Amino acid sequence: MLVNIDDFRLAARRRLPRTAFDAIDGGSGDEAALRRNRSAFGEILLRPSVMADVRERDISTTVLGQRISMPLLIGPAGYARMGHREGELAAARAAADAETIYALSTVSSYELEDVARASNGPKWFQLYPPGDRGACESLLARAHDAGYEALAVTVDTAVEGLRERDRRHRLAVPLRMTPRLMMQGATRPRWALDYLRGGAGRGAQGIGAAFLQERGPRPEPRSLRDAGRAIAATARSITEEEIRFIRDAWKGPLLIKGVMRAEECKRLIAVGADGIVVSNHGGRQLDGVLATIEALPEVVDAVAGQAEVFVDGGFRRGTDVVKALALGARACLIGRPYLYGLAVGGQAGVRHVLEIFRTEIDQTMALLGCATVAALDASAIQLLPGFAGQASARRETRQGTSARP
Ligand code: FNR
Repeated sequence: MLVNIDDFRLAARRRLPRTAFDAIDGGSGDEAALRRNRSAFGEILLRPSVMADVRERDISTTVLGQRISMPLLIGPAGYARMGHREGELAAARAAADAETIYALSTVSSYELEDVARASNGPKWFQLYPPGDRGACESLLARAHDAGYEALAVTVDTAVEGLRERDRRHRLAVPLRMTPRLMMQGATRPRWALDYLRGGAGRGAQGIGAAFLQERGPRPEPRSLRDAGRAIAATARSITEEEIRFIRDAWKGPLLIKGVMRAEECKRLIAVGADGIVVSNHGGRQLDGVLATIEALPEVVDAVAGQAEVFVDGGFRRGTDVVKALALGARACLIGRPYLYGLAVGGQAGVRHVLEIFRTEIDQTMALLGCATVAALDASAIQLLPGFAGQASARRETRQGTSARP
């Protein structure tokens, strides 16, 4: 029975070949960051509240001027096709059904225009900037014309993370039908059939298409090798100067994704960032880092209301989302949870995952005595000594605690 996100994870593990599951589930190095993203939530306790009238509740919120039904968004993840034939199309439709935002990765399996047409929900485009400025401008123009409302530039992939699970499986992206994968597919026939029916494995079609199209208005069919090269080239340094260039080229709201240090926020705001996404790429880049929920308070402090602050990494429960909001996040993004949902049941699976979060967020807020997102503040939480986040958040919440007998 699929009751919570962990159930979806286990179901995805049963459904996917090991290579594909590990490509989604894994982190870098010893996977300490992956674990810490989760365990740090245990260092924040919730403080239930009584006597509030919470019979009528509204967990909707606004992000960058866009109303969404809950403070949870679908974050960008490449090659969603690996989990389900309909990949990003299904995820975007599920987000629209749930009235929230879908962020499409640059290295998506489907063309960005096709994903835009698949649903009429609000969408962001995540950018791994192509090195060539002209190509970057044309990609941005396409995203704009297709109706993507905001741009999230991912800046935490100067080089690729040390993904040891992928190395052991000799994972090649795009996924190739190697003898090893065929062997794994033999025990995962539903997946294998779905994967092959989608035409993947035969060419570049369907994998990394959005990125591959950067050089021309329409995609040329390319080889898997070309696709692999193009995807590998997404890992490179993004300097402040390049962010300025992107700021000029993109007229809509701009977010910078992958920030973990407070001192960098002022510079990002100075170059025109409207939003900061506190992220360690789901523990897939540098290992041995702070959990994102621990980095969040210092970023919120530094940003001081001059931009909206988002966070992702390890969000698996409604309580996790509410803790982040209490620490000042505008909304949270999820990666793996919806990829598990996609693997298990396509669009319906993603929808189910989103509804689990919705129910849990709503229930948590009710028990905290908050009928709206705006009513939620630092008094809802108490930080334990093991929480490695910044001291000012600690002070504030401790005071919140001591003010009440
Ligand atoms: C990602 N992530 C990611 N981020 C990004 O900016 N562009 C991308 O193409 C991808 N691709 C990607 C693939 C897969 C399989 C995963 C798991 C993640 C990172 C993603 O946006 C997000 O930061 C993390 O996934 C959040 O952590 P959780 O929710 O997965 O714990």
